Amino acid sequence: MTGITKESPFDLRNAAAYAEWREQKITAGTRALSAGFVAISDPMNMADSEVEAILSRCRDTNIALYSTPPETDDSILRGNLRAMADRLGMGEPEGHRSKGEAAIVALTVSNRPSQRGFIPYSRKALNWHTDGYYNAPDNTIRGFILHCVQDAMAGGVNQILDNDIAYIRLRDENPDYITALSHPRAMTIPETQEEDGTLRPASIGPVFHVEGDDLIMRYTARTRSIEWRDDPVTREAVTFLQNLLIEGDPLMLEAKLKPGQGVFNNNALHNRTAFDGDEVGNHSRRIMYRVRFNNRIRST
Ligand SMILES: [Fe+2]
Repeated sequence: MTGITKESPFDLRNAAAYAEWREQKITAGTRALSAGFVAISDPMNMADSEVEAILSRCRDTNIALYSTPPETDDSILRGNLRAMADRLGMGEPEGHRSKGEAAIVALTVSNRPSQRGFIPYSRKALNWHTDGYYNAPDNTIRGFILHCVQDAMAGGVNQILDNDIAYIRLRDENPDYITALSHPRAMTIPETQEEDGTLRPASIGPVFHVEGDDLIMRYTARTRSIEWRDDPVTREAVTFLQNLLIEGDPLMLEAKLKPGQGVFNNNALHNRTAFDGDEVGNHSRRIMYRVRFNNRIRST
């Protein structure tokens, strides 16, 4: 990987720095399993202690579950999400200028022609991925908020895993896996039709790259419309990661978010189980709001 200093835990030759960082990550990840939700009483005016609680969890594990009083007024809710993101230094949402209000995307079962047939807008399970894995390098997604407006009657559980932990599992198994997945052509998403009908160019890049002290991950567990670099170690690494995510890691978080609850994170790996399959017709009450950012959460 380029851009890694000798002192970095991400330098594969620096066993000491890696061991120290790894220990901290495992300890913090274990603690996070029972940390629960950070309660935010007024999203428009977060208390300093609430902000610090979120930042501290994100410094530790890149993920912070939170709860707010459920809000039924849509424009107040959207304002709340923007206000919290501001306090956490996430900057402008991705596509804010071009999409206006749509910078906050409602993930719900949709029969709109532009969304019909796309898994995020269905009741189907969503495979493990990081957000925006198909984006161009100049539009890397480094953080997002997922906020529950209305939960499903049944299912719709999210699992989320700190990318650093995925890196640790891979490196502990075989450091060559990290080298393979850091190759600038490791993962290709071919050119495709976007949800709005426009053509999205092919996205070619690594799974892992490092920016300063931060590990950035770009990944999808989907098996269709994805090309992995044709190399035996890459194939092994991809299989290992897929198995890890399917079998589950002790440090995975799992939550069925309730109205008002959500998660701030530095674009960690996540999935979603299927939901409301027993509801009549293509219907579910579940609504999740998602806001993506090119920035990470401030200083985390
Ligand atoms: Fe996602």
